[in-house]
Amino acid sequence: MFTIGVLASGRGSNLKAIIDYIRARNLPIRIGIVLSDNPSSAALDIARKEGIENFFLDPGRYRTFMEPHAEKSFIETLRQKEIDLVCLAGFMRILKKEFISSFEGRIINIHPSLLPAFPGLESWKQALEYGVRFTGCTTHFVEHEIDSGPIIMQSVVPVMKDDTPETLHNRIQEKEHLIFPLTIRLISEGRISVSGKKVYIHS
Ligand code: GAR
Repeated sequence: MFTIGVLASGRGSNLKAIIDYIRARNLPIRIGIVLSDNPSSAALDIARKEGIENFFLDPGRYRTFMEPHAEKSFIETLRQKEIDLVCLAGFMRILKKEFISSFEGRIINIHPSLLPAFPGLESWKQALEYGVRFTGCTTHFVEHEIDSGPIIMQSVVPVMKDDTPETLHNRIQEKEHLIFPLTIRLISEGRISVSGKKVYIHS
């Protein structure tokens, strides 16, 4: 069984989409653990309701990073659960070197823009303020530099003239809920290879 670990900080809608996608298709993918840096993340409630093991791990006193001992406990927990793939589903902290090299090539992220445009926070707001006609979402492998790793899948979302940050983010999320589970599935089936910055999807 291909085992994934999901890290989430917020509403957990991507976690829910992953659970539903796996269940609807009866895929041989197991969510071995859900971890959050936020004790009130809805992702923890979703996991609890689904009977998935879940923990809040205290990130320490920084806002954007985890303290070294906290990062170690994330790494240790994922190792103990023999996780094949770490999925960042709205995990709002930057991972440091030790974390990334502990799961080299086995960490993926969902980002709410068409990377390399609008890396960082609240990318839907950045897109709206910039005035682009199209934005979207991206799944990518995680590397040391932020939002920069090889791009796996993207989905395009048009920006409407009466969009608010919220309506735009909601439409982006609808696409996230399609490409993130699909990306996980392709990786679990061994259908993804990477050469430099390029990702190849095999049939
Ligand atoms: C998603 O839109 C995801 O793309 C974004 O956080 C949201 C989490 O939603 N991630 C980032 O901005 C990472 N830089 P969710 O908690 O409902 O899954």
